[in-house]
Amino acid sequence: MKKINRRQFITLAGAGAVGAFLVSRLWERGNSSQASLKGAIDLPKLHKSSNGLLSVDLEASYRPVKLGDKQAYLLAYNGQVPAPRLEAKPGDKVKIKFTNNLSNPTNLHQHGLHIPFTGNADNVFLNIKPGETFNYEFTIPQNHPAGTYWYHPHRHGLVAEQLFGGLAGLFVVRGDLDKIPEVKAAKEEFLVLQDFALDSEGKLIDSDAHMSLMSGREGDLITVNGKPNPSFSIPANGLLRWRIVNASPSRFYKLSLENHPFYLIATDGNALAEPVETNELLLTPGQRVEVLIKGDKEPGQYRLLNLPYDRGGMGMMGGGGMMGGNNNDTSPVLATVNYDSAVETIALPTKLLSVPALREPQQVRRFTFNHGMRPAVGMAFLINGKSYERDRIDTQVKLNTVEDWEIVNTGTMDHPFHLHVNHFQVISRNGKPEPYRAWRDTVLVPQGETVRIRIPFRDYAGKTVYHCHILDHEDLGMMANLEIVS
Ligand code: C2O
Ligand code: CU
Ligand code: CU
Repeated sequence: MKKINRRQFITLAGAGAVGAFLVSRLWERGNSSQASLKGAIDLPKLHKSSNGLLSVDLEASYRPVKLGDKQAYLLAYNGQVPAPRLEAKPGDKVKIKFTNNLSNPTNLHQHGLHIPFTGNADNVFLNIKPGETFNYEFTIPQNHPAGTYWYHPHRHGLVAEQLFGGLAGLFVVRGDLDKIPEVKAAKEEFLVLQDFALDSEGKLIDSDAHMSLMSGREGDLITVNGKPNPSFSIPANGLLRWRIVNASPSRFYKLSLENHPFYLIATDGNALAEPVETNELLLTPGQRVEVLIKGDKEPGQYRLLNLPYDRGGMGMMGGGGMMGGNNNDTSPVLATVNYDSAVETIALPTKLLSVPALREPQQVRRFTFNHGMRPAVGMAFLINGKSYERDRIDTQVKLNTVEDWEIVNTGTMDHPFHLHVNHFQVISRNGKPEPYRAWRDTVLVPQGETVRIRIPFRDYAGKTVYHCHILDHEDLGMMANLEIVS
């Protein structure tokens, strides 16, 4: 039993009645992750490694959580939404003592980290039952890139629901990119984008409606770091460094900051060779970007906007329509940026880190993504015509080889493709070569399009997965097992 202070005790006691009511209500409707409501807690939001070790206790449970001034009841790691940020350096050992206080099984995935994926490391096949504690342990390799990664549950069948409840946090690896002088001088902020569907009392709305699962569930309350429309400040003449993660299960974000272009410096936890200027950033679930923003405009207030984007639908309405996933249904303002007092002018870095070209592939494979009917099951989301099965190996590759994978989307909905553990480079889209080299772990394959990626399988053998990062699609079968053999 953890010790609690007086304030926490009062909060706990206060939450008791609500908790009891909720438990019975959730029990009635047969729902799921939220067993017993725990009290709100206040813990440090950052856990950093020291002397080569990051050691942290994480507990997942159903709790009252404040989203700005709105009271919500969510699934949270250590009572926080977003979850505490974990920070380590290449070479560090990481120990996570994880306790599942949800009412459903779960596990932990370190999205984007290049670490072992067997045993008690980044093993998505683990099934940690309610009430169980599991000790995760892994080492971040010496040559691991510095970047923005994140952790979330990955128990197949429950992933979308658990993420939509709020379970997601950042895992940051500090290293080379952080040492580039201009990047180091920039003001650093993290933006965790999440969306929620809450009723008037702040409780999670059951998203089990058939169509919302098909499209991928979206909520109309969008938060950045757990707040609707928070404020950020940019130093006049200086640089702002935003490290953004889309931690929503299905929602896409198309970001634009009024009057300010973004200078992209990293994609999915990997630095680019040089900054790339862009006015808009489309972030699919799972993806991260790092951008620099120049504080060189008229001091004032500027809005970070979420522009409309149509990620397709079930095809019956043509394009998006009623059943499509659209951004159009919510406030377009995600955050507000204010100018702060002037600092000495910081220029943009001209060079970042090298992104080496990969050697020619030893093997080329093709993967078709679509949804379809499965006899006796109904609608399923499929890769190469198959729905996920835990014990089937779908693809076997050899360690230390390079392969090209052609991801073909023959459907009417966008699918962001994600591969665990090994980062890849996009070679071409619809046969058109990619304009610049970048490492990624998640890439959008829009409806009707083909994306070719090149993957080096490095360092670790074993079994892991690739899937669509619209997590309802993943839960509905759009995932497959990859075996890397040495
Ligand atoms: Cu973000 Cu398979 O996960
Ligand atoms: Cu992942
Ligand atoms: Cu999908």
